[in-house]
Amino acid sequence: MEVDMNGVIFALSYALDKVESELIGVDIDHAKWVAYMSVLTGKTYDMSFEQLSDLAACAAMHDNALTQYNAGGRDRGLDPSVFGLHCTFGQENIAGFPFYGDTTDFITYHHENADGTGLFHKNDNEVPLAAKIIHLADMVDVSCKVKDVSVENYKTILNYLNSNTDQMFPRDLVQHFLTKFTEEFYLSLKGRSIKDLLSEELPHNVREYPFEQVRGVMNVFGQIVDCISSFTRNHSFCVADKVTRMARFYGCDDQIIERIYIAGVLHDIGKMAINNDILEKPARLSETEFAYMQNHAWYTYVILSQIRGFEDITEWASLHHEKLNGTGYPFGKTGKDLSKTDRLLACVDIYQALSEDRPYKKGMEHTKCIDIMRDMASKGLIDAEITEDVNTVFKVAPEVTTSDRMI
Ligand SMILES: [Fe+2]
Ligand SMILES: [Fe+2]
Ligand SMILES: [Fe+2]
Ligand SMILES: [Fe+2]
Repeated sequence: MEVDMNGVIFALSYALDKVESELIGVDIDHAKWVAYMSVLTGKTYDMSFEQLSDLAACAAMHDNALTQYNAGGRDRGLDPSVFGLHCTFGQENIAGFPFYGDTTDFITYHHENADGTGLFHKNDNEVPLAAKIIHLADMVDVSCKVKDVSVENYKTILNYLNSNTDQMFPRDLVQHFLTKFTEEFYLSLKGRSIKDLLSEELPHNVREYPFEQVRGVMNVFGQIVDCISSFTRNHSFCVADKVTRMARFYGCDDQIIERIYIAGVLHDIGKMAINNDILEKPARLSETEFAYMQNHAWYTYVILSQIRGFEDITEWASLHHEKLNGTGYPFGKTGKDLSKTDRLLACVDIYQALSEDRPYKKGMEHTKCIDIMRDMASKGLIDAEITEDVNTVFKVAPEVTTSDRMI
């Protein structure tokens, strides 16, 4: 499958910013800024394009396990006795990514200090250079909000680095960073979009990947989404699995099935932009809360439409709450605008949601789910034929085995 892997990782990193902003107050685009500063620093070490690509991907993914870390509504804060879990699981999660080279410990050690006082108390010589670069870029952005470009902020960055050299950051690394990050260079970033800056420094790498590898990347993001709420555990995987089985039932060719799987696993990625209080509310949502929650489908569109070559996947994923009679969201499309795959995603999402336990209801049996869907079809909301096909395919074996990797 042909994929712009950096494009995918940077677009989906938006979902990671949201989690990190809730936990430690970073700004949106934090992951991109960390990736950007990492690439600039990596270039001062004469890293190759392949090394820079791997570094940028790990930098963008540095906190990918934060939803797992706080899964199930837990709020562990930054307790140093357990905070290292987000590093080890974050590294494990990216194990299947299609890197060019060895990225061992790039994420595991992204909180190690030069003086050995980091989360794992590693000495400087035990930590790969890439992990040190990510650490510096991460902490500079967390502490100084790099995107707020000004003469004053440059002084803040310099002060921060000076007061933490030798303790948090090795002296030679700080020097490398500052050879690129001069005041003149920093001020030249004012008003520039981080997306443009990043793509100038790191050209896109559209390549052919085996689907297994692409799926590995997408599954990490599906897991991040499923972990943000204890009530939707495995929802994205189950939708992806069921929509794939339906696509097989319809005789779609393998390439289409692969793309439908991705739409299924990412259909709720926009939930990452929704406040946790709403996602975790242990009761039915009020009208206002529900209207706010509806934005998630719009955010799915916003996030996925940034990925070149994902136009069909973006459509299928972001239209999963549209209704044939035009009462759905986010666009209020009607039947004439909704393809069979759009309708299929909508039906499978409803079937899956009905069959799952929620704080205000128990998961329903297959027959009850189909009864409700038939009623919706009779009201012109969803596709009647697909509803019958869902009945045919899932009445025998609705359950799926999914990964379950809460920590
Ligand atoms: Fe972290
Ligand atoms: Fe961070
Ligand atoms: Fe949804
Ligand atoms: Fe969903």
